[in-house]
Amino acid sequence: MEESTPRVLGLSCSPRVQGNTDLMCDSALQGAAAAGATVEKVHVPSLNINPCMACNACFKEGVCVQKDDMAPLIDKMLNCEGVILAAPIFSMNLAAQAKIVIDRLQCCWARRYVLEERVLPEEARARRRGLWLSAAGFGQESVFDPATVTVKYFFLIIEVPKWERVAFAGVEDRGAIRERAGALEECKTAGARLLEGAGVGGTDG
Ligand SMILES: Cc1cc2nc3c(=O)[nH]c(=O)nc-3n(C[C@H](O)[C@H](O)[C@H](O)COP(=O)(O)O)c2cc1C
Repeated sequence: MEESTPRVLGLSCSPRVQGNTDLMCDSALQGAAAAGATVEKVHVPSLNINPCMACNACFKEGVCVQKDDMAPLIDKMLNCEGVILAAPIFSMNLAAQAKIVIDRLQCCWARRYVLEERVLPEEARARRRGLWLSAAGFGQESVFDPATVTVKYFFLIIEVPKWERVAFAGVEDRGAIRERAGALEECKTAGARLLEGAGVGGTDG
């Protein structure tokens, strides 16, 4: 059977272009591309995505009534093998630009938990891998703990069964990640590992 080229989507959520998580996202996508993926990067702050209005209209058919850039973004998130969430820590949690996207996945939550459907068939789900890339100014690893809970929810709702985190504490200024020895290389390697589920570049089949 002919395998199609795996796709990896990078959601770069910081408003700071060429900032730390944006550079990390680029490195991870480079790693995925070198391992054989077709890659796409989306700069989330450039999109028009409104917050969830909690209207519960999505409980009927699992579709959001808001007409903005979110529906095409959900299509992209569901139609790939690898999903990268590149999002820094702001105010001890995920940057709002990432959190708005996650809140707007309420329609996917409704499909699963209200309508009792799955958003993806089993075979597509099994291939999917996730990667959360983050940076924080504060120097202790625990700074990522609150956001980790939200990211776990994010990957659950978009049906990514396995994901990993590459996050660097004590990285404050724009581009400071370049000075952290081995950091961008680590992102690149993690990007390549996203293809493991698709049977490329790894061992977990
Ligand atoms: C509004 C705002 C809030 C922030 N809050 C925190 C915080 O609570 N804890 C922390 O460690 N760093 C905080 N930071 C620092 C960023 O996490 C840090 O600069 C990070 O490298 C930004 O990544 P970026 O370049 O990808 O945007 C904050 C930065 C901004 C702009």
